Amino acid sequence: MPHKAVKTAVFPVAGRGTRFLTITKASPKEMLPIVDKPLIQYAVDEALSAGAVTLVFITGSSKRAIEDHFDSNPELEAVLQAQGKQELLDTLRGILPSWASCVYIRQPAPLGLGHAVLCARPVVGEAPFMVHLADDLIDAEVPCLKQMVEVFATHGHSVLGVQNVPQQDTDKYGIVTLERKIAARLGKMSHIVEKPKPEKAASTLAVVGRYLLTAAVFDDLAKIGKGAGGEIQLTDGIAQLMKREPVYAFEFEGKRYDCGSKLGYLQATVEYALKHPSLGGDFAKYLREFVPKLT
Ligand code: UTP
Repeated sequence: MPHKAVKTAVFPVAGRGTRFLTITKASPKEMLPIVDKPLIQYAVDEALSAGAVTLVFITGSSKRAIEDHFDSNPELEAVLQAQGKQELLDTLRGILPSWASCVYIRQPAPLGLGHAVLCARPVVGEAPFMVHLADDLIDAEVPCLKQMVEVFATHGHSVLGVQNVPQQDTDKYGIVTLERKIAARLGKMSHIVEKPKPEKAASTLAVVGRYLLTAAVFDDLAKIGKGAGGEIQLTDGIAQLMKREPVYAFEFEGKRYDCGSKLGYLQATVEYALKHPSLGGDFAKYLREFVPKLT
């Protein structure tokens, strides 16, 4: 029997973004630009290319800019039209294809990522769904979520996108251990622990902001209480889910930038600017002149 299609993507964007204060006081972290597109648009593009047609944003206070970004702006379009700026107009109109729909659900308070995902339940229903954390930007030939949808299509079980991280960083991630390998990049998980201290971490395989989950996880998220950091953790919900059905870890192909940290954000900005079609050449020239001056 073919596995259910994955048509819904959930974007939890209700976090406080404290590591980026003061910019995140009044505007969302997910609207930070990488060159000329906000992080959340990279996220949406990835989900659309993986087959999502319903985009569920879990929002909180100070997140209106995200709704405005994906809404049409007839006034601005009219100005661009009058000025004959067709290319910009096309870019603007291309932000969201007409066949995709956006749903906004308010998380009453930032109680944790697990709670944010649970807020999507009324829209997701019983179907498998993707979860995308926009501050983990992944540059890949085949978009990361698309790679994961392909894994799901073959195996029909929940899949988490994972990557090896330095041992000293395990306390920033959900860390997974594998029961057995299924394929070169795929394994069945035996454990998942949120933010273990480096000396206690059983592995260095970290979950990095991409999940493809069966709807069964909602029952678990509804039951678990607060975990690490006093928050309702998605990791804890997945740990419960694993007791009832297999959950796979998938080492995706691609380079990931931690845009929730300032250093990762700057690295992404530089590397995406170098690849930018109209900017890359001039920026590379600037860097070649500037870098030798660094002491
Ligand atoms: P983070 O752990 O990066 O937290 O959340 P944060 O609040 O965004 O940022 P810092 O740590 O204070 O700087 C991971 C993802 O989960 C979302 C965030 O928006 C981010 O995309 N999230 C987190 C929620 O939607 N709701 C929550 O209650 C917590």
